Amino acid sequence: MRVVVVGATGLLGHALWRDWRARPGWSVVGTSRAARGDLERLDMQDAARAAASLAAWRPDAVVIAASEPNVDFCESDPDSTRRVNVDATLDLAQAARAGGARVVFFSSDYVFDGSRGAWREDDPPAPLNEYGRQKLAVERALAGFGPDALVLRVSGLFGWEFKPRNFVLRARENLAAGRRLTPPDDQVYCPSYVGFLGGPVAALIEKRAAGLLHLAGAEPFARDAWGRAVARAFGLDAGLVDGRPTASLPSGAAPRPLRSDLDSRRAAELLGAALPGGTAGLERMKADAAAWLPELKAWAGGDVVA
Ligand SMILES: NC(=O)c1ccc[n+]([C@@H]2O[C@H](COP(=O)([O-])OP(=O)(O)OC[C@H]3O[C@@H](n4cnc5c(N)ncnc54)[C@H](OP(=O)(O)O)[C@@H]3O)[C@@H](O)[C@H]2O)c1
Repeated sequence: MRVVVVGATGLLGHALWRDWRARPGWSVVGTSRAARGDLERLDMQDAARAAASLAAWRPDAVVIAASEPNVDFCESDPDSTRRVNVDATLDLAQAARAGGARVVFFSSDYVFDGSRGAWREDDPPAPLNEYGRQKLAVERALAGFGPDALVLRVSGLFGWEFKPRNFVLRARENLAAGRRLTPPDDQVYCPSYVGFLGGPVAALIEKRAAGLLHLAGAEPFARDAWGRAVARAFGLDAGLVDGRPTASLPSGAAPRPLRSDLDSRRAAELLGAALPGGTAGLERMKADAAAWLPELKAWAGGDVVA
């Protein structure tokens, strides 16, 4: 199995690339826009060059973990983010398919409006924000690829990363500094440890799974409860986490859905197991630190991550 992971510096892409480098029978190319470690250069917005790279690598599957996932930035700059999240993503998907590769794309729980939870794959999406609309546009285009595309909706990704942006790393840093957190107590999602995703996503590729699947941690959390779980896992003061209703918090650029927790039963049935929930993910994340951090620190010049 020859696989290209596009966006292998990202939170999810790095985790997949790490896992699959060691997977028997797999040969993996990871990409980055900048020269970094063992990664190959690829910018999705340079469509011609990206297509030429795919043609040279001749992958069986192209896994697109690259995107501009900053929800507020998508809201405030829909044009430039749409060029990455929709146009360049679909150009790359077309190039992959033209070369005979299957495409795996990651969408989001933010395609739903949050009016209720436990969303299933056939529930109607109705995004509240531009990021969700961009994800949905790609989902709809890839539906036309039939057996050549798999769309995985993921949620609340966390883990070690080269640019520490995910909620767990930011909460840990703030709590360690004694700063109070006020996460919304009425936004519910399914935190998912990226280190748990490599095996299931690889298995889905090997099974030639296609279409749309939800793949998120099995434990729904309100964001304040998740903040307290993070505090407890890292031995920090959970009393600093003070949940508030979304309506009472200063709003960012983009509206957020309240209940975006995903029901991932369909993927669990295909895989024979559900993705472990956030509590198990935090424990595994701590255990993974020694193996993961040296490479990430080297990429970052030694001064971020943990
Ligand atoms: N994080 C979450 O909680 C979450 C939740 C639901 C869905 N998702 C989706 O899951 C996927 C992975 O998210 P993530 O959090 O891992 O993202 P991330 O950490 O922000 O990583 C984004 C990656 O995209 C790459 N990239 C950006 N623009 C590119 C371009 N023009 N060409 C090539 N590469 C480009 C970046 O590479 P450089 O190093 O070159 O900048 C980076 O590797 C995304 O599709 C996201 O929308 C994420």
